[in-house]
Amino acid sequence: MGSNLPRHMSSPVEELEAVVSEAPARIDGATSVDEIDEVEAQLLGKDSTLGRVRRSMGSLDPEDRPVVGAALQKATAEINDLLASKRAGIEAAAEKARLEAEWIDVTLESVSLPQGSLHLIQQTIDEVVDIFVGLGYQVAAGPEAELAYYNFDALNTPATHPSRLESDTMYLDFGDPADEVLLRAHTSPVQVRWMENHEPPVYIVVPGKAYRTDTIDATHLPVFHQIEGLAVDDDIQFSDLKGTLLQFAREYFGPETTVRLRPHFFPFTEPSAELDISCFNCDGNDLDCRVCSGAGWVELLGCGMVDPNVLEAVGYDPGSVSGFAFGMGVERIAQVRHGISDMRTYIDNDIRFLRQFP
Ligand code: PHE
Repeated sequence: MGSNLPRHMSSPVEELEAVVSEAPARIDGATSVDEIDEVEAQLLGKDSTLGRVRRSMGSLDPEDRPVVGAALQKATAEINDLLASKRAGIEAAAEKARLEAEWIDVTLESVSLPQGSLHLIQQTIDEVVDIFVGLGYQVAAGPEAELAYYNFDALNTPATHPSRLESDTMYLDFGDPADEVLLRAHTSPVQVRWMENHEPPVYIVVPGKAYRTDTIDATHLPVFHQIEGLAVDDDIQFSDLKGTLLQFAREYFGPETTVRLRPHFFPFTEPSAELDISCFNCDGNDLDCRVCSGAGWVELLGCGMVDPNVLEAVGYDPGSVSGFAFGMGVERIAQVRHGISDMRTYIDNDIRFLRQFP
């Protein structure tokens, strides 16, 4: 075979054969993807023997060209095959190492974090407020440390009213009637605070805490919750009060519920009433009923038409607007609905009780 290379130098074909025979050992020495990339550049790159032979093809004798070309192709293919299989091996090993490092035992028992829930009282507040929001009411709030003026005077409660005594109401500052501060005995003061700052129409519900010097027993807690309601508009009538409370009672206690209003007295409503609901447990047919004790009715909340003196105290004109108000005890209504025999369970923090209202 003729050649244009000097005799003392090996032919391109021999050079290629030499590279191919050394290739397995060099490729095998690579232990990472980076190293295999480097070996690939050394064996096939521009400055490699193969690269040089490739570039020299044009200057070869025409009769040498097919032979060298075939040898170059063969060498390239063999080296490529070796590189590809080594690369696959390295990648598989890396994947295996990664899987081993990330291995977890999915059959191990996990640490389960206990999930809490809202207290029944908060759940009850949320549910009742939702009912009234659905009727178009806004939610209002006021301070728990309240001036005697808002708790009593503005609510048409005379200076001599027995509930003003220290034996009934918890005072923070007692004695000088003008600056007396107390823990509000009901949520009704928020009626006054809202009306002082808003023009009618008024449709609000006020959930919040109230405080009385009651001794703790099955039906009394000295710190408890109320939800106040107030509606003032240009033609609010007693029938609106009854219809609204009937709607509430049906949504909260069940669609079959009926209501009755019994005459009562509150200084800030006239006329005043107490609302009873029909017993959803026995409907009056069970003398031993745990909910109504056979009466057929369950006392629920206080309500009435806003006294004109209250409207006047906030600057409203009783000649052109009228309203109704109601106040319900949250502990009370939840006790009735869920058949809770003792209110103290609300504050015992006994997890067995709380878990019944997830
Ligand atoms: N504030 C009254 C109470 O605590 C309830 C009530 C509110 C009555 C609004 C009438 C109108 O007993």
